[in-house]
Amino acid sequence: MAIHLCENNIFVLETKNTHYVIGVDRYGHNRHLHWGKKCDINDYFIEYIGDENSNHTMLDDYHQEYTPFGGTMYRDCTVKAEFSDKCREISLKYDGYMLDGNTLSLTFSDKVYPLEIILNYKAGDDDDIITRWTTLKNNGSDKIRFEKLFSAEYNLPSKKPYTFKNTNGAWGGEFLETNSVLEGGSMVFESRRGTSGHNQSPYFIAYQNADEKSGDVYFATLAYSGSFKVSASRDLFRTTRVILGMNDFDFAFELLGGESFETPEVYSGYVQGFGEMSRQMNKFAIKNILPKSFNKKTLPVLYNSWEATEFNVNVQNQIGLAERAAEMGVELFVMDDGWFGKRNNDRAGLGDWFVNREKFPNGLDELINRVNELGMDFGIWVEPEMVNADSDLFRAHPDWAYHYDTRTASELRHQLVLNMTRKDVQEYIFGVLDDLLSNHNIKYVKWDMNRPLSETGAENLPCPQMLWYLHTKAVYDIVDKLKAKHPETAFESCSSGGGRSDLGALTHFDQAWTSDNTDAVDRMVIQKGYSLIRPIKTMRAWVTDIAWIIKPATLDFRFNIAMQGSLGIGGNLLKYSDEDLETCKKYISLYKEIRDLVQFGDLYRIMDIDKDEISVNQYVNGEKTESVVFIAANGTRFYKKKVPLIFDGLDENRRYTLTIGGKQYEKSGAYLMNVGIDIMVRGAYYNEIVRIHSV
Ligand code: GLA
Repeated sequence: MAIHLCENNIFVLETKNTHYVIGVDRYGHNRHLHWGKKCDINDYFIEYIGDENSNHTMLDDYHQEYTPFGGTMYRDCTVKAEFSDKCREISLKYDGYMLDGNTLSLTFSDKVYPLEIILNYKAGDDDDIITRWTTLKNNGSDKIRFEKLFSAEYNLPSKKPYTFKNTNGAWGGEFLETNSVLEGGSMVFESRRGTSGHNQSPYFIAYQNADEKSGDVYFATLAYSGSFKVSASRDLFRTTRVILGMNDFDFAFELLGGESFETPEVYSGYVQGFGEMSRQMNKFAIKNILPKSFNKKTLPVLYNSWEATEFNVNVQNQIGLAERAAEMGVELFVMDDGWFGKRNNDRAGLGDWFVNREKFPNGLDELINRVNELGMDFGIWVEPEMVNADSDLFRAHPDWAYHYDTRTASELRHQLVLNMTRKDVQEYIFGVLDDLLSNHNIKYVKWDMNRPLSETGAENLPCPQMLWYLHTKAVYDIVDKLKAKHPETAFESCSSGGGRSDLGALTHFDQAWTSDNTDAVDRMVIQKGYSLIRPIKTMRAWVTDIAWIIKPATLDFRFNIAMQGSLGIGGNLLKYSDEDLETCKKYISLYKEIRDLVQFGDLYRIMDIDKDEISVNQYVNGEKTESVVFIAANGTRFYKKKVPLIFDGLDENRRYTLTIGGKQYEKSGAYLMNVGIDIMVRGAYYNEIVRIHSV
């Protein structure tokens, strides 16, 4: 909204409902003064404190925006550098600020060495989100080597302990929430794998007494798809601090004379309740993070061949699936793994991005033309960062994979990781994908990445530890270059499911594959975790034939769950009965009517499958005139007959119509949000989709 410059180098970032206040003290230290509810801006001041004693200097108690290592600063700091004369400390002075619209930059520089550190802040216009990043400049001629280079530091206001919500997921079980209280010491959420991964998430969500609708929630999420670290601590003064950035594990970064570097961005906010956090981040991401080519476009219903045909794709079976998909109303047909090289299983072919002529004797266009004739766009799966040892690419360039001559490279899923920091590798990947997109009518690329990095020897780099960052950057750069040249092609980020679906990936990719686990029951939990801080429209959700649990969910139930994101179909349609096809047709057509609500609306998580044994998610449009509610419970209990359903997000003063449990109602928003309607939850796979229209 606005940035206020106050006396004594105090800067107040004003967002819709909050103040974020920074100061620079007379020693040139950056100081954090406040984050939370708005106060009179003239009340903010910088307090000068003395050392506690010889063991605890004033720096221990400092609340800072960015803390370099040096002097008596012992805590987990955000930046640590070594200069050419081996001095390993930074000591900053303040040089001044720059204000450019809603962006504030505070410049600090080392008192002796030619290092400049610029703290950048952008205040949201119609939300409470503050974007932060840090610029490092080497204004000298000797290189500066960083051991640590984080994006931002946050100080939380309450002296009482915060609970940190994060995830402890896995392949097939992404985004499973954890809630851990931090009373003392440190708590770290990280990835060391070279991707953001399936396990912990590159964000912090710190709260006190919070639920979906109320309570203090502070959050910040890092836009970076490589190894990350979020480190929270609570100190002797009971201050909770969090720093976020590229992981400092096996990390180094060299800034040569004259070079500058911008850290990945962090999006942070203070709101009441987790629901508000998700809604603000959803809107913010659509507007400011997602690539501009598709951010405002409604995403199509897609079909994906993976679960139906796995590696056995060929022109006949894909055309067969495409014909059925088109009949159901699918708009985009995506052929998954198996179409290239000698790819009959996962042991061979990765790297050889040329059509397999045994499976497609007349090339790809026979299928693509048929798909287009059926009125659908065509999409294709690739895994460009990888190579199988059994591939022409690896036989020609064994040195292109990360390796140490003295170590055996681990083959996970029988594949090795290409050294993406090499120019020739980057050119090869861009070249083959550019040819593919230039020679065929391909409107969608599913870019997969099925294993983490290991044995990361990279002889080509003067500073090999930079590879963790350079690998991620190479992926982003290639995708950006391909998108610039083929602006009508959308990109999906997949990494064995949701292993690379962070907001860094979503700065370059238009959507993400949520999880290889497409079981509708498990998906309720996985999708809830996804929806916390990522935009809903990027969450690809398929209806498939998978059932991990004993009794497969009904088709209606599976649609209910998959329609809560960007709908896809992934079952073996060749085996579907006429009745199944009709069911699919019915739901796809319903989805097309409501998808703008889901993809662009405000999500209210009303009931939680884990806590309430029933999942209720409501999506409301911006004008509050239309809403859709998804109700689903896989296992219900006989004695639990009635559940009061209290709606949310509506306009109290409007009147709405809805049909629920076969009964029609016309009620005010106030009634629906305060009294609600009782629903009878009964039977296996109970589910209902309720549409609410304003009168
Ligand atoms: C990964 C993806 C799947 C599928 C397979 C293909 O597991 O997550 O969706 O594309 O690879 O090998």
